[in-house]
Amino acid sequence: MGPKDIVEFVDGALKLLSERDLWKPFLVVALTLSFGAFWIGWWLRRRSGAKLTCPARHLTPKEDALLANLDALNDALDKPEEELWQFRKTIVPRELLDRIHASKMKVLTLTNLKGGVGKTTLAANLAAYFHERDKRVLLIDFDFQGSLSTTVSRAARRTEATSESDKILTGRLSADNVASATFTLGGPLRHLSLIPAGYELNRQENRMLMRWLLGLDADDPRFALARLLAQERITKTFNLVIIDTPPRLTLATINALCASTHFVVPTILDDASIENVPALLRQVRHWFRDELNRSIELAGVVGTMTPRIDLGQTEERARDTVTRRAAEAWGPSTYIFNTSVPDNARFREDAGRTIAYLDTRATNSATRDVIDALGAETAERIGL
Ligand SMILES: Nc1ncnc2c1ncn2[C@@H]1O[C@H](COP(=O)(O)OP(=O)(O)O)[C@@H](O)[C@H]1O
Ligand SMILES: [Mg+2]
Repeated sequence: MGPKDIVEFVDGALKLLSERDLWKPFLVVALTLSFGAFWIGWWLRRRSGAKLTCPARHLTPKEDALLANLDALNDALDKPEEELWQFRKTIVPRELLDRIHASKMKVLTLTNLKGGVGKTTLAANLAAYFHERDKRVLLIDFDFQGSLSTTVSRAARRTEATSESDKILTGRLSADNVASATFTLGGPLRHLSLIPAGYELNRQENRMLMRWLLGLDADDPRFALARLLAQERITKTFNLVIIDTPPRLTLATINALCASTHFVVPTILDDASIENVPALLRQVRHWFRDELNRSIELAGVVGTMTPRIDLGQTEERARDTVTRRAAEAWGPSTYIFNTSVPDNARFREDAGRTIAYLDTRATNSATRDVIDALGAETAERIGL
């Protein structure tokens, strides 16, 4: 049967249909058949498709672990920030921490979960104070905004520093590098070392938290700084490490508190500012001292930006309140510094440019006197 025969056959059939008026029932049957065929085809495709894309098989142990991690991550993200860190079982590297606490080197963190209370100003001025007393000081900027890095670099007449403290968290900073001249500043701060911070710190903090939550790293990232500072090359080189932190419990702040021998809480002495101090003290007490870093000590709470060196009535009242409430949170060993730092234009104007303590002009003697008193009190508190 050739194509010509087919054409003749179709032609004949059409003629027959139109002569006998059969085309209407024919059309209905044809439409019903094609609809049925389409539906059966779709149903068959769906059944076989389901089989092809989801074969029943057992997960490999790696896939199993990954799924468990994703479940854990999902749960963890529902919890408050600090509870994220309690999600995995903590193995405290006691031997490392004992090495830091047993050495002569002191590690001092300045912390307050409130911003603008004078942490960075105090860190820079205390570093200058101890540098002048021939102590080998290592300053670590753990605030990604890098205010301390800018201030101290400019005071040392150095070009602005790039972010390096992020490498502490990722373990890419060797003790040799830190202890050698790499981070030593010149000019009036020739014996001071600075590990600067920049935005990269924030990026690495987020990355390290994610990696830890997913269980990708064997080492607990909260003890990265402790791993660095515990090395003999560091404990034998430096007398004092001062760490400036941001007003949050970031991974860097947690690292600082996990590696510190002491911490100081600077606070403005007014009702709004002292409100958060007891909560912070409680947190350091129960989370760090009871669990992560058992030997950490509170050097003390320092009043900052007070109207005068001798406190007014409002500050005295705030000081009494903070003394009482801090003692409730930290216990009877809570210490409030006798020296408070008055509000002084020198500190404000020098921020981001230089360190007020380096200005030895007679007109600046009041500022120097305050830092001298505070430095002496700090040295006594931390045993330096
Ligand atoms: N004792 C002080 N007197 C006057 N201004 C101060 C004093 N201490 C800090 N400041 C200013 O207050 C602002 C915040 O201080 P800073 O040290 O950066 O606080 P933090 O690090 O807690 O955020 C800065 O502009 C700083 O110059
Ligand atoms: Mg700061």
